[in-house]
Amino acid sequence: MKITVSSPDITRVHTHCLVIPIHENDRWSASARKVEAATQGLISTLAKAGDIDGRPGTVLMTPAPSGINAQRLLLVGVGEHPDADDFARAAAATAQRLCATPATNAVVTLAEISAKGIDPSTRARVLAQALHNATYRFNQLKTGASKEAVKRGGALTRVTLVPGSSNTASVTRAGVKEATAIANGMKLAQDLGNLPGNLCTPSYLATQARKLSRSHGLGVKILDEAKMKSLKMGALLSVSRGSREPARFIIMEHRGGKSNEAPVVLVGKGITFDAGGISLKPASAMDEMKYDMCGGASVFGALVAAAELQLKLNVVGIVPSSENLPDGAAIKPGDIVTSMSGKTIEILNTDAEGRLVLCDALTYAERYKPAAIIDIATLTGACVVALGHPATALFSPDDALAEELLACGNLARDRAWRMPLWEDYQKQLNSPFADMANIGGRTAGAVTAACFLSRFATKMTWAHLDIAGTAWHSGARKGSTGRPVPLLTRFLINRAKAG
Ligand code: BES
Ligand code: MN
Ligand code: ZN
Repeated sequence: MKITVSSPDITRVHTHCLVIPIHENDRWSASARKVEAATQGLISTLAKAGDIDGRPGTVLMTPAPSGINAQRLLLVGVGEHPDADDFARAAAATAQRLCATPATNAVVTLAEISAKGIDPSTRARVLAQALHNATYRFNQLKTGASKEAVKRGGALTRVTLVPGSSNTASVTRAGVKEATAIANGMKLAQDLGNLPGNLCTPSYLATQARKLSRSHGLGVKILDEAKMKSLKMGALLSVSRGSREPARFIIMEHRGGKSNEAPVVLVGKGITFDAGGISLKPASAMDEMKYDMCGGASVFGALVAAAELQLKLNVVGIVPSSENLPDGAAIKPGDIVTSMSGKTIEILNTDAEGRLVLCDALTYAERYKPAAIIDIATLTGACVVALGHPATALFSPDDALAEELLACGNLARDRAWRMPLWEDYQKQLNSPFADMANIGGRTAGAVTAACFLSRFATKMTWAHLDIAGTAWHSGARKGSTGRPVPLLTRFLINRAKAG
């Protein structure tokens, strides 16, 4: 979908749908006033009849309005004095309603209203992102009529955003540009996440990374198992032992900063299917463990966004990728492995595999002397118990980095919540036989997983994002969310501006 910014005469413009904001309590937006005059009082008639009242996020689709040239008029409630949440609700409702019509183009004036706490560029970004996200469809594995059914409703191809005034046109354009890059990154992350484990294997992810080197100019390096063995990545390789698909260690680089500038490193868990290994998971909803590479997918997405925005920043993306399956050769409970760092790990549960692939990736990343390193992982079911689906769990011993990431999550409407990494929890990882165990017992599972990772990041400014609750939806809306690409991209944009 193409989103452009211009200011046509909204009463004369020929479009499949004109979208205008309706306030509560007799406040009028500029475009509502124009449409009211051109339609001889259509809006006040609908208000009197009780069909619209301007509550945030409510919509009314009016077909064939007379007096204007639009084929449809969509009235969107924004509240009396809208704040950022009201605006986002109105944007999401607009996008969803537009996608439920056959309209392939639309003119949207919502960005003209002033909303408390968000500037014109942010308004444009929120609106454009809502439009992009609502048109996302995953139908590449359907055929014939069922493919068409999924396509239906995702028909929008061209949207015109009308800025509030001519002096906000350029910031509106900047917001749309950011939103488009973020949406492209999210779409890649969603596609990779939604692809099933038999197609999206570690080798498939490596092939996709190589494609990005051609399409987006990323530097890409892939390590095979022999190379991982020579680097002594014993923790990562122990996870891959039970699988017929070889592991891949994927490294992608966006070099937008000065050559001597320390990079931001993103490390994403890339388990393309997690059956649990010998500590086999129960059958119910096991299919959802195809999403266990969503951390890795978000790294792909953030690098795509960084490249499209040509950010003046060095970014390294690392995706340690493997399957986790049971087999005669698989790692067993009680086995002890030696990680790349030299530390030994007693594997008490083969289902705690994410931390095993990540710990070697963190050690590998030390060579980049990162300005900051962030790992992203669908790491623990306990994280979903603690925070549910609204928030990503954030862990970091570094207060400044933690605050920075929380603020980026708020700005991007892709929120995280900080969890403790106190020393008190570390002892849960004690092992009688090795330097540490790979699980920390029944309590505080998301925290002890983060504690495990912290032991491999002591030389770096590090944060960990557990996205087990935010990376995908189950149930009727089953599918990858593309989170936390918006948070990560906001972080990269801000770092690039600061540098
Ligand atoms: N990929 C899972 C975590 C997960 C489970 C995310 C369900 C989302 C939904 C991870 O590899 C795992 O299996 N973790 C175990 C750790 C436990 C054995 C300490 C878990 O959470 O049960
Ligand atoms: Mn697991
Ligand atoms: Zn897992």
